[in-house]
Amino acid sequence: MAQGALRGPSDYSREPPRHPSLRINAKEPFNAEPARRDLVASYITPVDLFFKRNHGPIPVLDDIASYYVTIGGLSGGPRRLSLDDIRKLPKYNVTATLQCAGNRRTEMSKSRKVRGVGWDVCALGNATWGGAKLSDVLGLVGVPCHTEITPSGGKHVEFISVDQCPEEKGGPYKASIPLGQATNPAADVLLAYEMNGEVLKRDHGYPLRAIVPGAIGARSVKWLDRIDIIEEESQGFFMQKDYKMFPPSVDWDNIVWSTRKPQMDYPIQSAICSLEDMSVIKPGQITVAGYALSGGGRGIERVDISSDGGKSWFEAHRYQKQGVQYVAGNITSDKWAWVLFKATVDVKGDTEIVVKAVDSSANVQPESVESVWNLRGILNTCWHRIRLLATPNLRSSM
Ligand code: MTE
Repeated sequence: MAQGALRGPSDYSREPPRHPSLRINAKEPFNAEPARRDLVASYITPVDLFFKRNHGPIPVLDDIASYYVTIGGLSGGPRRLSLDDIRKLPKYNVTATLQCAGNRRTEMSKSRKVRGVGWDVCALGNATWGGAKLSDVLGLVGVPCHTEITPSGGKHVEFISVDQCPEEKGGPYKASIPLGQATNPAADVLLAYEMNGEVLKRDHGYPLRAIVPGAIGARSVKWLDRIDIIEEESQGFFMQKDYKMFPPSVDWDNIVWSTRKPQMDYPIQSAICSLEDMSVIKPGQITVAGYALSGGGRGIERVDISSDGGKSWFEAHRYQKQGVQYVAGNITSDKWAWVLFKATVDVKGDTEIVVKAVDSSANVQPESVESVWNLRGILNTCWHRIRLLATPNLRSSM
């Protein structure tokens, strides 16, 4: 290994500084999310408030000149590309929301115990990622656009990192996506070196990470070391023994991991961020604000709000960018990004505020957490409920 090259340390002595307002869910490896109100304060999430999801110590790169990503496997490669080589390719800016499959796990664990780091409703963020399209990078090793299978039988593209993950027995984080998606320019899969117009921060994959829009965050591998074209999907832990959706009947005694596919696209999701799950307020008008998003590039057709625990509903206002009306599926909308919503509710007494969203394929969030409960606590997308206690004597400073 060249001196100064990208490497995954075995301990936590070289972690980067982090914003003090982040809510830390696990310290080592570092897993943290912003406060609810901070998350929906802006359409583009500031980098320091963006959730951080790690499985090992953050990799170190002392000398950017010694960084290379190797493109190999069943391709015309192997070929080593420097960051300058990647920067020479056409640059794209893609606004995409990354959401961890474990978002809202804490709520699921209250219904029945699950395994995994606990997350509130903020294990997601929306950023503008700058980088080269993976389809262009694969073109450099002789794999044309819209290739489902290479002449040598390659059907998947595996991203391999350098971080030392206990789940991989100290080996690196790995994940793969189908070759057809990787070589489809319209899928907008990026090798990103920028986040919100700045050089990627170490926490988010410096110097180069994959961004797979519309898929669970686990497929957007950080700190890329190799990209291999392979026959079968990645056999890595995080593809085969994690991030799979099991039915509520499966527990740790009867689980057979191979019976399920790795989760790729995420389902329709929404949550309220202007209030905590149990809030004490003064009766009167309150603002209910939050986010909605769906996977696979599907837009948000509707956000429904209830102020009586789900008996009656009305529509919230949806928006993305200032001055541009949001219309699901319109080319002026960011198809890979979340949609923020706002509504005014007149609270007269104790009640329950509920949100559910509908995507452009008319998929609706499930009502109960029990119906989607799974032992790893992923993809909790049930209706989000806020219990309001209305207290007339509350001092206005609260
Ligand atoms: N890539 C590597 N190398 N190591 C990781 O632990 N975590 C994944 C993904 N890529 C991970 C990774 C998961 S589960 C998520 S949700 C996203 O990165 C989180 O990205 P972020 O920390 O930039 O928000």
